[in-house]
Amino acid sequence: MGTVHIEAEKEDIAKKVLMPGDPNRVKYIAEKYLTDAKLVNRLRGELAYTGYYKGVRVTIFSSGMGIPSMGIYSHELFDYYDVDTIIRIGTAGSYLEDLKLYDLLLADSAFSKTYFDEEAGREGDNEEVINSSQELNGVITNTARIRGIPITQGRVHTSLAFYTGESNISKYVDLGCKAVEMETYALLYNAKKFYKKATSILTISDNLVTRDVIDPMEREQKLDQMIVLALESIIKC
Ligand code: HPA
Repeated sequence: MGTVHIEAEKEDIAKKVLMPGDPNRVKYIAEKYLTDAKLVNRLRGELAYTGYYKGVRVTIFSSGMGIPSMGIYSHELFDYYDVDTIIRIGTAGSYLEDLKLYDLLLADSAFSKTYFDEEAGREGDNEEVINSSQELNGVITNTARIRGIPITQGRVHTSLAFYTGESNISKYVDLGCKAVEMETYALLYNAKKFYKKATSILTISDNLVTRDVIDPMEREQKLDQMIVLALESIIKC
C-alpha cells in the first residue's frame, strides 16, 4: 500500500532519492545509469524507478513542477517512506550575467516570498530562507572537485511564477539570490520538518539578464554532468 499520491510499496522506495522535475528525465536516468531498475510509481504520470548505482540502492522520482507538487511528494517520501536523503536535480534561470548557461549551482539555501510554510502548518513566523543540508553540500562540493566539475554555491529564489517581470531581478539579487526555480524551498521545508537531508543541484537553463536560453532538445544530454554528480554524491551520503 502506498500514499494518497504514490502507489509504490513502502519497501520499493530507497532511502536515497534523486528528484528531477520531469518524468521523462526520470526514465532517461533510470535506463542510462541504474542497474536492475524497476518502475515503482506511475500515478499521475510522476514516474519513479528504484535500482542500483554502483551497487547502492537509489530511487529516481519526478517531483513535478512547482512548490505544491514538490511539497506533496517530498512530504510523503520523508514521512511515509522514511527516505533519508533527497537531492533535487533541476534547472534554474540565472539572475547574474556571469552565471551562464549550463553552469551548475548548488543551493546553499532557498528564499521564498510565499506562505507555503505557514499554510503547511509551521508554527511561528513565516520563514523566508531555509538552508540546505551542509553535510550533503560538503559531499557534493568534494565530489565535484575530485571529478573536475565546476560548481557555484548560492541561494536560490523559489518562485510561484515562471513568467516574471524583469524589474524584480535586482530585488532578489539584493536578497542574495543567484537564480530562480520553483521547487527547492518546498523540499528544504519538508527536510527540516522531518529532520532529513536535502539540497538541490541546478543547471542554468536560461539567463534572465542576457536572455540566453538552452534549446529544450539539447537540454536532455547536457544535463548528464549534473546527473552523474548527483548520483556519485548520493551514494556517499
Ligand atoms: N524561472 C523559474 N523557474 C525556472 C526558470 C525560470 O526562469 N528556469 C528554469 N526554471
